[in-house]
Amino acid sequence: MNEKTMQKVTYGLYVLTTKEGEKINGCIINTMTQHTTTPNIISITVNKQNYTEELIKKSGEFNVSIIDETAKFDLFKRFGFQSGRDVDKFADFDESEYKILENNIPIILKGVNSYVSAEVIESMDMGTHTLFIAKVTDMDIINDNNSASYAYYHANIKPKKEEVKSKGKVWVCKICGYVYDDEKEAVPFEELPDDWVCPLCKHPKSDFELQE
Ligand SMILES: Cc1cc2nc3c(=O)[nH]c(=O)nc-3n(C[C@H](O)[C@H](O)[C@H](O)COP(=O)(O)O)c2cc1C
Repeated sequence: MNEKTMQKVTYGLYVLTTKEGEKINGCIINTMTQHTTTPNIISITVNKQNYTEELIKKSGEFNVSIIDETAKFDLFKRFGFQSGRDVDKFADFDESEYKILENNIPIILKGVNSYVSAEVIESMDMGTHTLFIAKVTDMDIINDNNSASYAYYHANIKPKKEEVKSKGKVWVCKICGYVYDDEKEAVPFEELPDDWVCPLCKHPKSDFELQE
């Protein structure tokens, strides 16, 4: 079985936002899919470790801002590499960069071309992740920029990786570029448990590659 086969699947990229009471938060996902048009049903898959997952479970509502090819890496850093459990991602976010919709949940305005609002109708425990199935309640197009694919993000938005000099093996997260240098760590990468996740973007161990 070729483990790299799934890299041939095309994904888009999204800022998934939600609220619970006064608290608003969001994270980057690549897992939104439309299933049916009438009714308009979508799904998102969110890691249970993400604060956003906890908030959606409580509120049952979310917005998805569809990231386009003009997006800057800063957007990914803000929403994809830190948790709302540790920081308020909107506290120092310029007010021109987002807008609160009628459902009291923000959408992003820069680096995105459209948004969808939805209400959860069912959720499924997928082990590490929760799959939320939701009914679309609102949606609109902001501009005609091309949507960013996951492949576009890797080729054009994510900073190019710099070679790390080390006497040990160096493992690099393909998603965010986090470096695991065996020389500096107590446990060699290959001995980490299978459920270990990238400390930065929370992607699984299988998303790391050995620096050649
Ligand atoms: C390019 C990219 C794609 C990501 N895709 C997903 C995803 O599909 N599902 C998910 O749960 N997390 C995904 N993440 C990780 C979350 O965005 C990240 O763990 C975030 O810091 C969680 O924030 P929160 O704890 O405030 O919810 C992705 C991150 C990046 C950078």
